Amino acid sequence: MNILLTGARGFVGARVLAHMQAAGHRVTCIGSEDLRGSLTGDRFDALARRFEQARPDAVIHTAAISDTGFAERNPEESHLANALLPEAMARLSARFGCRLVSCSSDQVYNGSPYILSHREDEPCAPVSVYGRHKLEGEQRAAQAYPETVSLRLTWMYDLPAYRLHTNDGFPLQLLRAAVQDRPLRFSVSDFRGLTYVRSVAENIEKALELPGGVYNFGSENDLDMYRTALEFSRALGLGERAEKLILPAEGEQRSLAMDGSLLRSRGISFEPTSEGPFRMVKDYQM
Ligand SMILES: NC(=O)c1ccc[n+]([C@@H]2O[C@H](COP(=O)([O-])OP(=O)(O)OC[C@H]3O[C@@H](n4cnc5c(N)ncnc54)[C@H](OP(=O)(O)O)[C@@H]3O)[C@@H](O)[C@H]2O)c1
Repeated sequence: MNILLTGARGFVGARVLAHMQAAGHRVTCIGSEDLRGSLTGDRFDALARRFEQARPDAVIHTAAISDTGFAERNPEESHLANALLPEAMARLSARFGCRLVSCSSDQVYNGSPYILSHREDEPCAPVSVYGRHKLEGEQRAAQAYPETVSLRLTWMYDLPAYRLHTNDGFPLQLLRAAVQDRPLRFSVSDFRGLTYVRSVAENIEKALELPGGVYNFGSENDLDMYRTALEFSRALGLGERAEKLILPAEGEQRSLAMDGSLLRSRGISFEPTSEGPFRMVKDYQM
């Protein structure tokens, strides 16, 4: 396939690029310099020319302002990047008749009444600027182009790998705590899925075949964050030290965990959250 990819220097985009190239697809990247700010008039036309030159079969849109704190402090920038940009990508994908897979977030569920596993069809009322803009981005894209596939991603992680940008993910936080011998507390009433980013990159290739709609796209998890941290520590080989490093904390009951049934019914599944870090360590050893 001819794929147009945004956000290729980002955490997810870099892995998607590597995976798609290894799978034999031809990938053209559009950098954030052509996507930042307001995309009206000449700038929208310039983007349209990129589509015309690349003639993509599919667009994978990962570019965004992904830092929730930054989005909270800079709501106008977040609105452009997280709500209006997916709409622009959808309008162009509709015009050029190509598939569109666009990245959204489980933060759209942050603010929903407590349910252990959220489903795509429930009403969402996100509390954060980022969550609200990601939800608006899904809605605007669907309106502009009903074939848009919006993927609600969980918090993702990887270990640092040569040349690939890595976020400050969950395993790194645990490893840092171990190196500094500084205990960390995790809530026994906070639930969310965490997904190995390379599983996401692989499954995004399969998502190119999905019918338009919104999909929960990540590992399921029925463990609270304290137990999740213990599982990750086990995978990272922290052994008995984990019991001293990872401590339980009380907190408000919250769940961002997602139900993956809709995606499974379309033939795509993720390993459970507790298995992801074991796969990551195995990949890293290769
Ligand atoms: N990381 C997570 O755990 C997580 C969790 C849930 C959802 N998501 C979603 O997954 C997608 C990928 O996230 P990520 O972690 O890969 O993000 P990232 O590492 O922050 O990369 C995002 C990329 O977006 C581009 N970008 C940055 N600012 C921009 C702006 N103002 N306007 C347009 N483009 C901009 C840049 O692309 P270039 O460097 O190529 O120019 C940047 O590298 C995003 O939609 C994010 O909201 C991520």
